[in-house]
Amino acid sequence: MIEPRIHPGQRPEVLKLEKAQSIRTGIIPSKFHYETDRQAELWLALHEQFAPPTDLAPLYEQAAQAAASRWPYAQGTLIALGCGGGEKDCRLLKHLPDGMRYVPTDVSKPLVRKAASLATRECPGTEIIPLVFDLASADSLNDFIGPHLTANRLFTFFGLLPNFAPADILPKLRVLLTQGNMLLLSANLAPAGIKAILPQYDNEPTRQWLAEFPRTNGLPEGEVIVSTEMDGDLEHIIARHVSPSKTTGLFVSYRYTLPLLRDTLEPYGIQIEQEFISANGEEGVFLCAVQ
Ligand SMILES: C[S@@+](CC[C@H](N)C(=O)[O-])C[C@H]1O[C@@H](n2cnc3c(N)ncnc32)[C@H](O)[C@@H]1O
Repeated sequence: MIEPRIHPGQRPEVLKLEKAQSIRTGIIPSKFHYETDRQAELWLALHEQFAPPTDLAPLYEQAAQAAASRWPYAQGTLIALGCGGGEKDCRLLKHLPDGMRYVPTDVSKPLVRKAASLATRECPGTEIIPLVFDLASADSLNDFIGPHLTANRLFTFFGLLPNFAPADILPKLRVLLTQGNMLLLSANLAPAGIKAILPQYDNEPTRQWLAEFPRTNGLPEGEVIVSTEMDGDLEHIIARHVSPSKTTGLFVSYRYTLPLLRDTLEPYGIQIEQEFISANGEEGVFLCAVQ
């Protein structure tokens, strides 16, 4: 397997500074929860428990088929932003023409490697170029990614939107897109209000995963507390590490309704063309056109 190419912003000394700064400001970027092998393992286990791939398989299968049926080219590049283990991209690749190139990208090197080896096994013959970078903070990202892309581009942006305030991540996504690109993104929804969702985050496996950061980075003894909050019109879940001397924001998960998502994407020239909603109504996949 090709070794992932690593963006210079992921150099250990740069990350060390960024991490120290985030501890000082009390807001930990989500990427620091997927950094070590143990964090990746804990995340994959809880992802398996609370969003088992089998439950969401029909949703992603439907979206993959729809995207592939609209894809007009014999070749092109599938660029996965925050690819995680790559299962959803593989599902999509299987419906796309054989000539597609796959560029799995993530801030976590172990997860990028996992996605690349899954695609090597399940989609033999696909050209795979794994990349590691931080979508939220990397400089000159188009210079880093551009040389690995072909003209026709299909982006996946699965599981990233929930973990950022939209104004922090959508401008970064937009910079990578050009008019005519296809984009598949997922968003978390709250059909019965956010309180009904809370137990999916306010549980031991999630607290254990999030507690890895304070435990291994010298934060004072404390506990992880999960609650709900509003940010303008948008509801979100927030997890904080609370100790007697310091409170640190560890994690957010934003929830949308379809109208809120449309309004949120619109200023970035991203238009929802087709939507697919999970059986329980809590996750949506949106096929988008880029203006
Ligand atoms: C919820 S997971 C989704 C994984 C996969 N796309 C899926 O849907 O199964 C979020 C992924 O985004 C990655 N991630 C988090 N912050 C990131 C950032 N700033 N830049 C790039 N990737 C990031 C994480 O490492 C993780 O793999």
